[in-house]
Amino acid sequence: MHPYKEIFDNNKRWVEAQLKKDEHFFDKLASDQRPEFLYIGCSDSRVPANEIMGLEPGEVFVHRNVANVVNGIDHNVNAVIQYAVEYLKVKHIIVCGHYGCGGIQAAMTSQDMGELNAWLRNIRDVYRLHQDELDAIADEKKRYDRLVELNVQEQCVNVIKTAHVQKSWYHNNSPEVHGWVFDLHNGLLKDLELNMKEQIKKIQKIYDLKQGS
Ligand code: CO
Repeated sequence: MHPYKEIFDNNKRWVEAQLKKDEHFFDKLASDQRPEFLYIGCSDSRVPANEIMGLEPGEVFVHRNVANVVNGIDHNVNAVIQYAVEYLKVKHIIVCGHYGCGGIQAAMTSQDMGELNAWLRNIRDVYRLHQDELDAIADEKKRYDRLVELNVQEQCVNVIKTAHVQKSWYHNNSPEVHGWVFDLHNGLLKDLELNMKEQIKKIQKIYDLKQGS
């Protein structure tokens, strides 16, 4: 059988397995979604959001793109954040990068990559912001790993620059914003323990949208 066709067999087996566990599974699934988490991660096929978080369908709202970028003029990610914050009222927004990210490595390469150039410029800008720290790391792999972490940190900062999140912070003191990195070698998630409530104080003068007024 063609591998593409196998997907439909897989799907039928998955339906049967879900119904075996809970005969009302799809009635509940169809009724509504109330996820507590918005997950913004990399498109990389090895980093599936639900699986690594151990969450079921309905428990996490997901956005993925190359190298988990939150760009201010990307209507896609901004619409996702708005929907998650205003309508789903998620309690946590997670930006999750991963070590060994091809997008991060590509951004460190001096090469014309066509359509990817503009997208990867977001990552090159993160490098420029943290150039002193990164250039001081002699080991190339360690430097990539650190850029993965700093990219997560800067994308978390981009999340709190949005009007949707600022408005919700002013009125509800929520959602919390977290930066994580997934390690492909052992499957573990690392919480970078970024304190975004402290971060906003540093950048508030520049990025405050006066959403409280
Ligand atoms: Co990646």
